[in-house]
Amino acid sequence: MYSFSENFFDIKQFLLRLKQAESKRLILFGAGGWGEALYDELLQRGISLPIYFADNDSSKQGLRLKDKPILCPQEIDHHKDIVVITTISAGDQVSNQLEDMGFARGVNYFEVMHSLNYQYPFNVMDFYNNFVEDFKGLDILHIGPGGQLGVELLLYLMGAKSVFAVEYHSFNLSFPEITRTKNYYDNLGEMAIDRDYGDIFEKGLIKREQERFFIDQTKIHLLYPCSVTALPFADRSFDLILHHAVFEHVMNPERGYGEIFRTLKPGGMTIGLVDPQDHRVFSTFKEYYPLKFLEYSREEWNEIAKNINYHNQITFPEHKEMILTHGFDIKQLDILMETDITDEMWQKFNPTFRRFDAKEIGVLRFAFLASRPNESLPLY
Ligand SMILES: C[S@@+](CC[C@H](N)C(=O)[O-])C[C@H]1O[C@@H](n2cnc3c(N)ncnc32)[C@H](O)[C@@H]1O
Repeated sequence: MYSFSENFFDIKQFLLRLKQAESKRLILFGAGGWGEALYDELLQRGISLPIYFADNDSSKQGLRLKDKPILCPQEIDHHKDIVVITTISAGDQVSNQLEDMGFARGVNYFEVMHSLNYQYPFNVMDFYNNFVEDFKGLDILHIGPGGQLGVELLLYLMGAKSVFAVEYHSFNLSFPEITRTKNYYDNLGEMAIDRDYGDIFEKGLIKREQERFFIDQTKIHLLYPCSVTALPFADRSFDLILHHAVFEHVMNPERGYGEIFRTLKPGGMTIGLVDPQDHRVFSTFKEYYPLKFLEYSREEWNEIAKNINYHNQITFPEHKEMILTHGFDIKQLDILMETDITDEMWQKFNPTFRRFDAKEIGVLRFAFLASRPNESLPLY
């Protein structure tokens, strides 16, 4: 079993806080695998507070996990509850949501921050490196980095000429001040040295002003809130545009691919990883399967998706079609995960999706490298 005690962010402070909170309820926000693992560990540590789960996914609310009720967020209250955010994928949104409800970080809400968080940018860099070996001298745009700017710092260390990022949901983003999340950058920095990326502090990427820390905005440029569907950059600005687990969350991916094409220099490249699957499958509830979301019409799905960390219902063949229609030249396409479609599944799909090839619909994760072709010279 995964042990939170080794990786849990400030578990000592958290346990101390629990000791002072005798009459409170403990809410594990995120009724998924991490929530279950933390529940097991807290039980082993003899936590005596009543424990509940909570989740934004309305289809989980009212069910039980580990025989504990799953509440909807409206049922929790900063006067009587202590919350731990256990969801990793939607942690930023939940933290923002709790602050809106009057909770304060480190006082009555905590976040699971495990070592995966700062290892993660290295995995993403390894992924991009599979397609492009050298980032030196490139003007790079990274779309949808999420709450931390680890990938941006590593791209800069790898010799990028300029590093821009755009993020649509500013949720829990700390930028340029990172004092609050300095622990993340310290760990990332240590690992960057171990892995021969270089020193983010020595390279001046992070500046100290008395007791506060800032990312140097002359080196890392972040625009938010800013959508890939409306990029505020001139045509032909970038050599390389990257996105990882973003395009399944974009409301109008067709326009997003168009914007990438427009802002790439001719000959420029884009690398993407897309997960066209029902993300509810990442929970432990048995009724979901990766293509469950294709059972709904577009309108029905958009209604459901409002309540979860929004993702669209665009399938692999549709993404491919959009990429090609914009004029990209697909250089490499890797199918990273797929599932067989049974007759029973096929019958349940909404007719919108039954016009596609079953094999293509079964693609659950893919990655691609595409270029904006060099323009041919006029023939005169
Ligand atoms: C699942 S997270 C992935 C974050 C990060 N790239 C990673 O690999 O962990 C999806 C990210 O896409 C961002 N996003 C969603 N729609 C977007 C849009 N239209 N433009 C830019 N970013 C967007 C979200 O805010 C979120 O940070």
